[in-house]
Amino acid sequence: MKPREQILFGGDYNPDQWLSQPDVIDRDFELFEKARINTLTLGVFSWASLEPEEGRYEFGWMDDIFDRAERQNMHIILATPSGGKPNWMALKYPEIRRVTETGQHEVQGRRHNHCLTSPVYREKVRAMNEQLAARYGDREALILWHISNEFSGYCYCDQCFAAFRQWLKAKYQSLDALNDAYWSRFWSHTYTDWEQIQTIDKTVCGLVLDWRRFMTEQCRSFIRNEVEPLRRHSPKIPVTTNFMGVHLDYDYHQLAKELDVVSWDAYPSWHTPQTDSLTSHHSLFAGFRHDLTRSLKRQPFLLMEASPGPVNWKDVSPLLRPGMLRLAGMQAIAHGSDSVCYFQMRKGRGSIEQFHAAVIDHVGHGNTRMFRELSSLGQSLTQMESVVGMPTPAKVAVVFDWESSWILDAAGTQHNTIKQYLETVLAHYKPFWDRGVAVDVVDAKADWSAYQLVVVPMLFLLPESSAQRLAEFVERGGTLVTTYGTGVVDETGLAIAGGIPGHLREVLGIWVEESDALPDPCRRRIKTLTEAKCLSGSYEARHYLDVLHLEGAEALAVYDEDFYAGSPALTRHEYGKGAAWYIASRNDERFTSDLLGNLVKQLEIPYSLNAGLPKGVSAQTRESEGRRLLFLMNFNDEVVSCDLGSSLYADIETGTGYTGLIELEPYAALVLRERE
Ligand code: GLA
Ligand code: ZN
Repeated sequence: MKPREQILFGGDYNPDQWLSQPDVIDRDFELFEKARINTLTLGVFSWASLEPEEGRYEFGWMDDIFDRAERQNMHIILATPSGGKPNWMALKYPEIRRVTETGQHEVQGRRHNHCLTSPVYREKVRAMNEQLAARYGDREALILWHISNEFSGYCYCDQCFAAFRQWLKAKYQSLDALNDAYWSRFWSHTYTDWEQIQTIDKTVCGLVLDWRRFMTEQCRSFIRNEVEPLRRHSPKIPVTTNFMGVHLDYDYHQLAKELDVVSWDAYPSWHTPQTDSLTSHHSLFAGFRHDLTRSLKRQPFLLMEASPGPVNWKDVSPLLRPGMLRLAGMQAIAHGSDSVCYFQMRKGRGSIEQFHAAVIDHVGHGNTRMFRELSSLGQSLTQMESVVGMPTPAKVAVVFDWESSWILDAAGTQHNTIKQYLETVLAHYKPFWDRGVAVDVVDAKADWSAYQLVVVPMLFLLPESSAQRLAEFVERGGTLVTTYGTGVVDETGLAIAGGIPGHLREVLGIWVEESDALPDPCRRRIKTLTEAKCLSGSYEARHYLDVLHLEGAEALAVYDEDFYAGSPALTRHEYGKGAAWYIASRNDERFTSDLLGNLVKQLEIPYSLNAGLPKGVSAQTRESEGRRLLFLMNFNDEVVSCDLGSSLYADIETGTGYTGLIELEPYAALVLRERE
């Protein structure tokens, strides 16, 4: 990998939309310099410009951009263009077009709608990538390959199903094994010939789970096919693809294995009101997705796209308030990004994204509010080069698991409309975010050795191997917190025999006999037992209320209402050198905050800032070799006072010293270095 010493600052650039106006491109490069833009992501949707007809390549325009970039010491992230297939190809080879679930070939158009299996498409992609890699693989400006764009969606064509059946045969060997795994004697769904697997029957939950695993695998092998010529020609250039945070079509943990660097596109709906869902707590949810993306490889990631203003594809997109652009960029860096990149550099004049914000607006010059804000951020980033590569020191892991979410979604349960998996994970992430405690967001296959506290909300699918590793983590002194809805099915999606929470039963010291499902707005009170140090008084539970038996664990809180009054609502079990906690009901925010907040204290897990944080202020750190940077970010639209305690800090841009009580301007983002 080429060492990078700068925070990458720039983003998607589509000069092929402007080739008839070379003066526009001249102007763009002047403006890039002015804003200290150092990186262009090139060619994301350029297939038709690079190969206007089959086998005839046109690279002149791209050569020119490379030349210009090199003259200005800029970096290029070169994309492979497979996210959008050209018309000539889709018409000549209709089999590359996706087939819908009801069996229709999609009409040509739009983007991100190619078949991942099609040998023709894979061949075309490979030929294109061969050309790109041979031509640009050793250009000075090239720093990263960007594979395709925002992989998503499924194809239901014959080629995909033929490959799926092969995958199933390799996995199960026999139809008997497959029928057992799918419990398919139910409703006479027994498969007596592999060829009968031609559709995804949503009532066969194990089939749905396997289909999503298979599609992940197809995407993975599609990426491998793309990457092979790139690595061959340019073995030192790393490879990424742009993910989408919490996007459930493919398991990002699997795709990440094909990549050197993970990146994602962040489009929080800044300035839109918060609803009941934590996904509309924009700063929190953005922080969560940055953490999730970083944790895919547990190394710094890249913010590949963000919008430098309103987008064109949401219901309503407010203007970014002064300061928000800087704050959103700094937040990414605070959580481990080594870049702040945008979609896009220049706003096109036509087609569906003509009114999507861009660094350079239709007016064509840099005398705009957003350009000025962006230039000022560019200036700040040049003062922050020491950040590049610095890790994030998390002692807490919160589990968000793709496979588990897939099967929970597929299953019909008592709690159908109140499952709320992501919401529940966010509710367990929030107490840490509120307190400025660093968190890795990992899946159930993670290595737990780096953590003191592992929080596993609603892990519906719990393979024996994962349970085993969690038990070992606790045995060695770790603290595990898990909740209702955990350990219900095994990796095939079959209900676990022998009682919930499955293979965690022994380490948790409980058995869950029943779970109540309360429709909104029903609530049940729970009360703390006097000896509990982590909770106080009474709390409110909703939606999920497990009724469980103690099998070695102690109860720290109990239900206070209904026929299960007196039955445990929170349990703790000492196991080996550690402890395993079980939260039996979906509780109010204060409960989760009290419990996890007290665990952080008891376990002496470090805070980013050793003084409480005001509401809406986030503190994150990046650390290496004794150097520690504190990012202090005010997401409120008003001034707030924040206590820095007795430590002395210096602003890494201005050198200004800070200590004790300070005022944070609306949307302020400070980057501070602790002084000795
Ligand atoms: C996505 C895509 C970009 C662009 C932006 C618009 O992130 O990757 O090509 O369409 O959305 O917000
Ligand atoms: Zn297909």
